[in-house]
Parts: sequence; C-alpha cells; structure tokens
Amino acid sequence: MKATIAELPKYVDKEVKLGAWIANKRSSGKIAFLQLRDGSGFVQGVIVKSDVEEEVFQTAKTVTQESSVYVTGTVQKDERSPFGYELLVTNVELIHTSTDYPITPKEHGTEFLMDNRHLWLRSKRQHAVMKVRNEIIRATYEFFNENGFVKVDPPILTGSAPEGTTELFATKYFDEDAYLSQSGQLYMEAAAMALGKVFSFGPTFRAEKSKTRRHLIEFWMIEPEMAFVEFEENLEVQEQYVSYVVQSVLKNCQLELKTLGRDISKLEKITAPFPRISYDDAITFLHEKGFDDIEWGDDFGSPHETAIAESFDKPVFITHYPTKIKPFYMQPHPEREDVVLCADLIAPEGYGEIIGGSERIHDMDLLYKRVEEHQLDPETYKWYLELREYGSVPHSGFGLGLERTVAWITGVEHVRETIPFPRLLNRLYP
Ligand code: 4AD
Ligand code: MG
Repeated sequence: MKATIAELPKYVDKEVKLGAWIANKRSSGKIAFLQLRDGSGFVQGVIVKSDVEEEVFQTAKTVTQESSVYVTGTVQKDERSPFGYELLVTNVELIHTSTDYPITPKEHGTEFLMDNRHLWLRSKRQHAVMKVRNEIIRATYEFFNENGFVKVDPPILTGSAPEGTTELFATKYFDEDAYLSQSGQLYMEAAAMALGKVFSFGPTFRAEKSKTRRHLIEFWMIEPEMAFVEFEENLEVQEQYVSYVVQSVLKNCQLELKTLGRDISKLEKITAPFPRISYDDAITFLHEKGFDDIEWGDDFGSPHETAIAESFDKPVFITHYPTKIKPFYMQPHPEREDVVLCADLIAPEGYGEIIGGSERIHDMDLLYKRVEEHQLDPETYKWYLELREYGSVPHSGFGLGLERTVAWITGVEHVRETIPFPRLLNRLYP
C-alpha cells in the first residue's frame, strides 16, 4: 500500500511503501535510523540488520543526505517521537543519489541559508513555517466565505498609488507609466459597491529602502472591504478574523508549533475582543514610559509599537491617528479635523503592525479636496472618485500583512523565513 507520512497513523501495524528523501541518518553495526521526509511530514525509519537482506542494510548505511528512496516498512506507534509513529523498515530502494548536499546538520549562517533558499525550504523548521502559512491562508478563505464575503482579485499592474507615491515600483505599460500594486484597496472599494462584502488575497510591492525584520519588498496582503460598515464594526471584523486564524492554527498545526518551539499558551489567549488605545493615549503612555523622542503628530517606530504592545497579552488596536500621517482616503473623525477613523493592529511579542485599516471617505467633495491636497492627479483617480457619485455609502476595510502574521504566530524572528522566496532590499536570488 502506497502512503504518505501524514497518512501513517491510519496504517498502524500495516505494511506501507513511501516515496521519501533522507533528511538525516545515523547507524551502527546492527541498526540504522533514517530520518525520512516526503513533504507531508517527517518520520523515523528503523532498519535492524538481522531482520533485512544484507543489501538493504548496506543501502541504508551508505545512503547520503537528500537522496531519494522508496521505503517499505511496518507502521508502529512510538510515544517517544513528537510525530507518535515510526516505520520498521523492511526494504529501501534507491531512486537517486544526492551528492554533497550543501545544508548539513551543522549550523549555517543566514546569508548562506538564504542563498540556498531553494533547498533550505526542505528543512524541518522551514517546512513547519510553510505549513502554518498555508493554514493561515486556508482559515482566511474559510472565515471570509463563512461570513458572506466574496473573493475578488484586484489588478497587479495599476496606474494609481493608494499608499503614497514614494514607495512605488514603476514599470512601463507599453507607452504609459504603470506601477506594481502596493495595495488593492481602491479596487476593492469598487468591488464592495458591487458585491457588498469582498476580500482579496494577493501580492503587493513596496520599493521601501527598509532593512528590518518586518519589511519585505514583495509581500502578500489580505484586503477585506465592506459597504455600509463603519469604523467600530470594522474593528470587530478584524478581531474576529485574527482570533479565528490563530485558533485554527492551534487546532490544525500542533506538530508544527511544537517543531518551532512556539509558546502555545501565548496563542491560546488570542480571542476577541482585543483592547483599543487611542493615538492620543498612546503618546501619553509613551511619554510616561520615558520615550522623549516622540511628539504628537509623529508616526510610531517599532520600539514605540513594541512598548505599547507589551502592556497587553493580545493584539492591540491603536486608533485615530493624526490625519497628516495617514493616506488621503481616510474618513475624518466626526468631531475632530486632526485625526481620522483608522486603526492599526499591533501584534504582541514585538511583531509590530499586522493590520492597517480605516473607514473611507464617502463624501465626494471631501475626497476630491484630499486628492488635491496630496498632490495626486484627479484624472488618475477619476474612476475612484466616481464611486462617490452613484449611491455613495459609508464603507470600511483593512489590509492584513500575511508574512508579519505568520512571523508572529510561528514565533520566527524575521519575515524572510515566512515566505517561500523572499524579495529583500539586497536579494532577488533565488
Ligand atoms: O498599513 P498598510 O500600508 O495599509 C494598506 O495598504 C491599506 N491600503 C490596506 C487596506 O486598508 N486595504 O499595509 C497593510 C499591512 C501592514 O499592516 C503590514 O502588516 C503589511 O501590510 N505590510 C508589510 N508587510 C511586509 N513588508 C512590508 N514592506 C509591508 N508593508 C506593509
Ligand atoms: Mg500601515
């Protein structure tokens, strides 16, 4: 019976055949242990010399790291292994011999591992991170589909710049200038006027000269947008969504979280509602904590975000930022011109901002004024402004950065390990 490692629990005491790679190996004169991986998981294969043909034991003893094999054996329960099962091997057939695999069980530097990212992905830790990433994506689709949202795909080649013009990747679109999308939001607003509640999931690009553990040049964003939804309701959707994702990972990725050494008790606390603190109060709080470098009107840097997040064991919304440090499309506070109806969601444990969201301006005249104030070309935004001309409604939305969310949930230090092939300031390879 052919099986995958993930299916082995169904075949206890039965004989199965697996296609696998040799992740690692240890042997003595009488017994060999093969660490097998097949993509679906990792399992230990045990080969006892006296129980198999001489040739099979020789193959097991000499097989090199990352060689591919077919392995036949009997599935056994094994309480000592994190997986809970092992394979008592009866046969090993070599498919392909791997020579001098560069990533050995010893320690390697990060740049070396990043140069070998196409191979590094095979390692147990990276495998676990990718599985958690997949679970977050799966739970995202599930959450939004169950709550009446329609998935809409905004374009990647665009003529507009929702988040400011300084971080755009310009390209030629035949004779015109175009940009790689830095956010699908403006298109999602159009989609919300057609479909009510929508969400997108796609790549976004920021030509940011930032070299921090939170910044990628190319990252994936989930952008929901909702018609007839106002500021506070938007926050409720966000806390429900983020809790749902964390609880799904806890339920479906126990082994991966264990592999990553994640402190699960911290994730178990992530349930809605989340605390809220206004920008004004956050400034006061930071002054009390001794941050003299920040004044009302400044944007927060990561030390500020981390200090605020440390007072809570759940993600925290920082609400009502100054108008002048936020994009042109945000709805002003009804009683205050100087702040907008927006919130950033800051993850615990120093992972920083994972969501940026707001209520959008739905008044045509005000939006037109803001386009001009931000020195944007009204011609380029003509279609976006028109959304306010035909049955304009209050509406809100947000963008969740997938890689920062994966970093937080897996507990990995740097976003470069949360995406298969990271695009960084100094890296377009592999
Ligand atoms: O706060 P941002 O820039 O918001 C927007 O783009 C809105 N238009 C979203 C919306 O309302 N539809 O980005 C949203 C999130 C951030 O909170 C962060 O998680 C992530 O995207 N993000 C990045 N992740 C990795 N590398 C970068 N350079 C990122 N820039 C933003
Ligand atoms: Mg932001």
